[in-house]
Amino acid sequence: MASHIVETLLVLSVIIFLQLQTTKGEEEGDTPIGRFQQYLRFKTAHPNPNYTAPVSFLVHQAQSIGLTTRTLEYVKGKPVLVVTWLGSKPQLPSILLNSHLDSVPAEADKWIHPPFSAHRTLDGGGLIYARGAQDDKCIGVQYLESIRNLKSTGFLPIRTLHISYVPDEEIGGFDGMAKFAASSDFRDLNVGFALDEGQANPGDEFRVFFADRTPWELVITARGVPGHGAKLYDNGAMENLMKSVELISRFRETQFDFVKAGKAANSEVISVNPVYLKAGTPSNTGFVMNMQPSEAEAGYDLRLPPMDDPHLIKKRIAEEWAPSIRNMTYTIKEKGKLRDHLGRPIMTATNGSNPWWSVFKQAVEATGGKLAKPEILASTTDARYIRTLGIPLLGFSPMINTPILLHDHNEFLKDTVFLKGIQVYESVISALSSFEGVSAQMI
Ligand SMILES: *[C@@H]1O[C@H](CO)[C@@H](O)[C@H](O)[C@H]1NC(C)=O
Ligand SMILES: *[C@@H]1O[C@H](CO)[C@@H](O)[C@H](O)[C@H]1NC(C)=O
Ligand SMILES: *[C@@H]1O[C@H](CO)[C@@H](O)[C@H](O)[C@H]1NC(C)=O
Ligand SMILES: [Zn+2]
Repeated sequence: MASHIVETLLVLSVIIFLQLQTTKGEEEGDTPIGRFQQYLRFKTAHPNPNYTAPVSFLVHQAQSIGLTTRTLEYVKGKPVLVVTWLGSKPQLPSILLNSHLDSVPAEADKWIHPPFSAHRTLDGGGLIYARGAQDDKCIGVQYLESIRNLKSTGFLPIRTLHISYVPDEEIGGFDGMAKFAASSDFRDLNVGFALDEGQANPGDEFRVFFADRTPWELVITARGVPGHGAKLYDNGAMENLMKSVELISRFRETQFDFVKAGKAANSEVISVNPVYLKAGTPSNTGFVMNMQPSEAEAGYDLRLPPMDDPHLIKKRIAEEWAPSIRNMTYTIKEKGKLRDHLGRPIMTATNGSNPWWSVFKQAVEATGGKLAKPEILASTTDARYIRTLGIPLLGFSPMINTPILLHDHNEFLKDTVFLKGIQVYESVISALSSFEGVSAQMI
């Protein structure tokens, strides 16, 4: 009975708090929302992100709540900011909370509010419009705000916590997380468990991601005897290429059928999508029409879930899709690894075999939240560079009842969703940093 009253009071005070937050007007000044808006106003969109001002802002924020900061620079003009909250047992593996500083471009004329204004609607329910509102400046600020709140309650972490802010995630992370993760600076952090960005959910469960798919760029080329357009003959380049295109289409359909039948998510199957075809003999007006070309090429975007065997798909490519017996060749550009340094699939276990998983899950549930079934991300993030090291990592951005607007026009986040996220991180960060069960890196 008593606990019900306490619960009701808590819920009421949260509601009053949220209402106060939302009725104060668009400009919030020195509040969590105000600081979120300030961070959103830095123009860190590609192709010319300037990281100087946002990093100064974050350094100032971190120092104002008593955290230490270090700015590392592996490539000039591309800083990696590391914020640290020292734990009482710094010899234990640490917790890393990652986010990226950059964002994709925005076509301002397609937005109802300018993409770097961080305009907050008053009549429309406190929606904060900005490029990066969901992807992923929200978590960058929420990490700091939750630590600010934990500090004000006197909470002391046992494990050391690090927050990293990295450049260039949206263009592959090569000058950002890739270099940071490979550095001795990173090794010295002795990271035991990490969180990185996730995605919004229009429904009411928090999404969580345990792996990325690995992209391959596949190009198949057919060569054959050229001939007059009128001649019927076997084994022309076009004929051989089209045989492969048909085979690949059939494979694509079998994978897509699993998705359409509800047996697998989009990200759980191998996708292989044609992205270009190149053939023909150019002429002044287009192509020579009475000539069969000697070479023809097709390009594919292929994505592999972590549990798939890369050798099997390579065998299929060599034997069926681009067999030398049909005078075909192929190249595969692997844009990431499928196995870690011990030959294990690059994914984080979301069951009892991973003690961090239970701590994380319980911490989210303690806030009244529910976790959706763990997913593989259909695309890739910087998470792959950390998982490749064998460090368990979950992708998580606490945004429920929110349309998925990353990279879209009119990207927004509702203020109450942003504030609720801070509470979720308070629970998650205090649980992870208090957890003593794992005394060595599990890699
Ligand atoms: C980046 O912004 C800072 C101020 O925030 C400015 O001093 C600097 O010149 C800018 N860098 C470039 C390359 O534009
Ligand atoms: C492969 O190329 C050779 C030489 O151009 C040709 O004789 C042969 O018929 C071709 N075979 C196939 C299956 O395309
Ligand atoms: C946990 O999941 C991993 C795959 O993610 C699997 O290999 C392992 O067998 C599972 N362990 C348990 C105890 O269920
Ligand atoms: Zn992102």
